[in-house]
Amino acid sequence: MSQIKCIGILTSGGDAPGMNAAIRAVTRAAIYNGFEVKGIYRGYKGLITGEIAPFKTQNVSNIIQQGGTILKTARCQEFKTPEGRKTAYDTLVKEGIDALVVIGGDGTLTGARIFASEFNFPIVGLPGTIDNDLFGTDTTIGYDTALNTIMEAVDKIRDTATSHERLFFIEVMGRDAGFLALNGAIATGAEAAIIPEISTEVDQLEELIKNGFRKSKNSSIVLVAESPTTGGAMHLAERVQKEYPQYDVRVTILGHIQRGGSPTAHDRILASRMGSAAIDALLEDQRNVMIGIRNNEIEYVPFNKAIKNDKPIDRELLNTLRRLSI
Ligand code: F6P
Repeated sequence: MSQIKCIGILTSGGDAPGMNAAIRAVTRAAIYNGFEVKGIYRGYKGLITGEIAPFKTQNVSNIIQQGGTILKTARCQEFKTPEGRKTAYDTLVKEGIDALVVIGGDGTLTGARIFASEFNFPIVGLPGTIDNDLFGTDTTIGYDTALNTIMEAVDKIRDTATSHERLFFIEVMGRDAGFLALNGAIATGAEAAIIPEISTEVDQLEELIKNGFRKSKNSSIVLVAESPTTGGAMHLAERVQKEYPQYDVRVTILGHIQRGGSPTAHDRILASRMGSAAIDALLEDQRNVMIGIRNNEIEYVPFNKAIKNDKPIDRELLNTLRRLSI
């Protein structure tokens, strides 16, 4: 039986819509099961500086619909040092926190994995990132909302692309992953997606656009995943414009608009299920696992697996995009 009495909760790395729903779920499921809860502010930084407060059910009222994170977030360099992590551990001991639930992406789970093994400290992770780049879960908290934001923005740009008969390169986030670009392209009927996972796409692009314009289309939209591998939208646009001066080329970088906004129903439900499952995991004495949901089933994914394994792009999605963009 678990010896845990008090659970600390934090959000770290880039904010993602649905993080608040996850904070609410962890807090309430923990209290429901008789645990004490403490909120840690500004991610791992708050562990080092001791920015911690007790959390009751009221602390998480009326937040399920809010974007961002009420606990704030940070990318903490100090936590990457052994000294920083020791200070964080001392804070946990002082606060009487005997388990952590951390919500974040790749960097957050990497920090958790190192800390958990150094101090033999129980940690459960929730995948909170718009990038959807964590292995062991079909989607991450925030991904669906970001995808919908992209869809709405691209739909609007399509109006201008069609009216002016232009070729738009639209850059979306994803760090080194192409999930947002590929699925965003399918959802908006874009002509192509340039993603880091498929390097040949760049070479095929010019031909594709040429064919598109030659046939019937009077506008084209290409979604480009931000990444050194793709070179980004600006780079591609310059290349295409040089080769095809007859096209009226424009670039839009969607940027941080993709990280904000009220979470979709999908993300709220995902966050609620995952937050609740995090407490089940601690009750079952699970250690150092990320909560994933695959094929609608909760799974406990060891940190190592979630971080180290590349999450593959579904080839069927690529084929669908290619077939439908002719
Ligand atoms: O990981 C989420 C993310 O939005 C990535 O898609 C992007 O590359 C990065 O964070 C941007 O980080 P920042 O907001 O710190 O510039």
